Amino acid sequence: MTRVFSGIKPTGHLTLGNYLGAMRRWAEVDQHRADALFCVVDLHALTVDHDPARVRRLSRQAATLLLAAGLDPERCTVFVQSHVDEHARLSYLLECVATDGEMRRMIQYKEKAAREQARGGSVRLSLLTYPVLMAADILAYGTDEVPVGDDQTQHVELARDLAVRFNHRYGHTFTVPKATSPAVAARVMNLQDPASKMGKSDDSGPGIVYLLDEPEVTRKKVMRAVTDSGQDVVYDPQERPGVANLLEILAACEGGDPAELAGSYHSYGALKKDAAEAVVDVLRPVRERHRELCADPGYVEEVLRAGARRARERARPTVDAAYRAIGLLPA
Ligand code: TRP
Repeated sequence: MTRVFSGIKPTGHLTLGNYLGAMRRWAEVDQHRADALFCVVDLHALTVDHDPARVRRLSRQAATLLLAAGLDPERCTVFVQSHVDEHARLSYLLECVATDGEMRRMIQYKEKAAREQARGGSVRLSLLTYPVLMAADILAYGTDEVPVGDDQTQHVELARDLAVRFNHRYGHTFTVPKATSPAVAARVMNLQDPASKMGKSDDSGPGIVYLLDEPEVTRKKVMRAVTDSGQDVVYDPQERPGVANLLEILAACEGGDPAELAGSYHSYGALKKDAAEAVVDVLRPVRERHRELCADPGYVEEVLRAGARRARERARPTVDAAYRAIGLLPA
């Protein structure tokens, strides 16, 4: 059976972009067709300035939202990265396979480091080694497929390179994974800045719909989305990115094709109104389930405990094999 692994970083509140771009598909498709693991990657949240209480809170919230979005602990494994030691154990071995040049070439590192240095700050060493830990997340489980957004494909490529290199040097140990992005991935952009992704860590509130926003707040954010000059509703991501984003959001929520949907609108106002309602409708069941789950924190804890146990069982043999292959004396 195909093994699927993906992770979500608890560095901010989860957004409509996380849901339409990833989580919904994990729940509707991946958990049914594969042996799938979904991980709240809390160790990755420590690579930038962080507040311990906030990371703890966001980790619990992300796990709860994964379940609220429809991940079924009977069908897939939902767990927290730091609960399974194998990630950190394997990460060190992979640091002995990766080179520092490889790390410094990672686009995300270069961008974040440049931003930090421009502010006169420093970056944590773990930000540089982050892709190695991510490779460990993936390789520990014999993962075949990693469903991620485009911004993560370079990191999955690195995981592939490290798997191939390790296998070549020390004998076949790892499955070589590949990134998958669904053909019709919804790429939800920031409502105030449609040139950039609706990311959870950007924290520029008005352009980002959070899964836990009240419906009234969600409506306001969509109604205030920037649109483009012009009057007619056409789907043109290059020239009319704001309108295209609204059409894509509407299409992702209701099904359908953004270019076709454009034909049924004669004003931006009507499009915004429908998009706002569609978003509120799509998030309603997630919010309701989230509320139920919050009323029963013991249940979520138990799911995470069982998930960690199962993940550990899956990862342990591969990581032990890697320790032996690389030349470490068995305990
Ligand atoms: N780096 C990913 C992100 O920022 C999160 C992540 C960490 C991940 N480990 C992973 C994704 C392993 C897929 C597989 O979104």
